[in-house]
Amino acid sequence: MYDLIVRRAKIEGKTGLWDVGCRKEKIEKISRKIKEKAKLEIDAKGKLTTPTFVEPHIHLDKILISEVVRENKSGTLTEAIEIIWEKKKKYTTDDIVKRAEKVIKMGIKNGVTVFRTHADVDTICGLKAIEGLIALKEKYKKYVDIQIVAFPQEGIIKDPGTDKLMEDALRLGCDVVGGMPWNEYTLDDSKAHIDFCFSLAKKFDADIDMHTDETDTPKAVTLEYLAAKTIKEKYFGRVTADHTCAFSSYDPYYAAKIVDMVKRARMNMITNPATNLMLEGRLDLEPIRRGITRVKELLKAGVNVCYGQDCIKDTFYPHFGQEDPLEIGWLLAHVAQFTLKEELEELKRMPTYNAAKTLRLKEYGLKEGCEASFNIIDTDNMINAFRFRPPRLYVIKRGKILAKTEEKTHLLI
Ligand code: FE2
Repeated sequence: MYDLIVRRAKIEGKTGLWDVGCRKEKIEKISRKIKEKAKLEIDAKGKLTTPTFVEPHIHLDKILISEVVRENKSGTLTEAIEIIWEKKKKYTTDDIVKRAEKVIKMGIKNGVTVFRTHADVDTICGLKAIEGLIALKEKYKKYVDIQIVAFPQEGIIKDPGTDKLMEDALRLGCDVVGGMPWNEYTLDDSKAHIDFCFSLAKKFDADIDMHTDETDTPKAVTLEYLAAKTIKEKYFGRVTADHTCAFSSYDPYYAAKIVDMVKRARMNMITNPATNLMLEGRLDLEPIRRGITRVKELLKAGVNVCYGQDCIKDTFYPHFGQEDPLEIGWLLAHVAQFTLKEELEELKRMPTYNAAKTLRLKEYGLKEGCEASFNIIDTDNMINAFRFRPPRLYVIKRGKILAKTEEKTHLLI
């Protein structure tokens, strides 16, 4: 007997309806009709069934902080960082868990059960953000998977002592080495920052995930060194560059060279359209740049690209955000100007397979042998899911139901 069978599920890319049989937290069988019974059966009634959504880039330590700090008057990234300094000195585990778990629950309701979160590591908050998110990870480990990135937002060379804290963070249990090489005084220091992150990652056999060139000037070129270093160190598939806003300001010849290097390095790229649309181009006169990386060119070259929520009500993005990958995907489709069939096909894979590849998840997908973690969404195809952001009727993690939506609006005209 199966533990769970979802009957009559619509699966993207397959015609007709399918039964999904799960046993011991895994998908054991997908077929037109499973004859056996299960302890729990769900009739999907032809609704879209997708693999669980993956959030590849969020800052859970800073979540909801805009409610308690002063306004970001300039709207810039620089001021957003400075405002948090006072708050960071007062971080406690309890405060971080309480704020972050609100977003974990929002995410679960929206079908997200895997998160990669950055956590600040610097001489202002020390390891407080890391400790808070490790406590969060422990508290929710039955329900969601969380990867924690040690994130030196204040720089490493610029903020002496951060190198030791980064190593301590990895020792405490951080999964990934983060970075912010653009936030150093000189290009030489940016390179030293990247070199340090690679030596740390190799020491702990960890992946690397860096905030890269999150600014609008074409003079921000740390992505070039990051890609070159990845190739030199043969860290293929293990390095991710986030934001890369300056990439959109490069001239087409230099940009083509960088696309090629990123492809050769087999890097993953994460764009965060909500935050960067709000934050970038703040020093521009009209026309104001949008600061969104070269999504189409990267995809065309065969680079793995996905997108993240990044921020929810913090100093970078103070008013919005609800941890719904369908909302961010809808936004990206507009800003990246996705209209062609192949572009929409790629969009469909971004919150699922592309994000899972970035996080190097194993046993991920809606296939036999994969972890039984999937969503049943109140629609029949993924483009309509982006269009309407409909209720996630069931959110299932390792064969257990984490969330169920029953509400329905009746139109009385
Ligand atoms: Fe970020």
